[in-house]
Amino acid sequence: MKFFIDSADIDEIRELADSGLVDGVTTNPSLVAKSGRAFKDVIAEICSTVEGPVSAEVTALEADAMVEEGRALAEIANNVAVKVPLTWDGLKACRTLSQGGTMVNVTLCFSANQALLAAKAGATFISPFIGRLDDIGEDGMELIRDIRVIYDNYDALGTEILAASIRSDDHVRRSAMAGADVATVPPKVLRNLANHALTDKGLDAFLADWAKTGQSIL
Ligand code: G3P
Repeated sequence: MKFFIDSADIDEIRELADSGLVDGVTTNPSLVAKSGRAFKDVIAEICSTVEGPVSAEVTALEADAMVEEGRALAEIANNVAVKVPLTWDGLKACRTLSQGGTMVNVTLCFSANQALLAAKAGATFISPFIGRLDDIGEDGMELIRDIRVIYDNYDALGTEILAASIRSDDHVRRSAMAGADVATVPPKVLRNLANHALTDKGLDAFLADWAKTGQSIL
């Protein structure tokens, strides 16, 4: 499974990318607003920090305008994936951009049929929003499972499932079990994946016993 960082905070991204465990980044207009920085500058900086795909979202609502914005964003760097919303116009823009060789991430996906349309439109990634489905009392993970089955039924659908709106380590675990290709994870959640109370406890005990030996490795 690939891990993307869901953030526009360059310091956080840089620190996590140093681990070698980060395969890409996703941003959205809310995350860019939170960063307080100029959109294109942030995307350029992230693209030079992370080798993998960096999603940058259009804000136009009409297909032609989305394509125009998407092309401008794709010019920032080779690893930009243009993010378009899952609307009819977004699907049209996805088709045009992907046919022109641009990576496209179709976002705000809340149903399996939407995901099927995005794949037919040539999306590189489909972003089902797990947490927001959970928020309204539905099971976001069921959507990931349904999309996995549908995509696996048709060899021609090469779109990767990018589990988004992830809020917890359990979301990551269940996305991996359901066969999502990518999880885009907030920095705090990603860091937390390495933590376990028994790891800390075990390490304390090992180090205490090691100290008693009076030895050093180097
Ligand atoms: O990747 C999409 C994500 O940023 C949305 O997350 O927590 O705002 O639903 P959230």
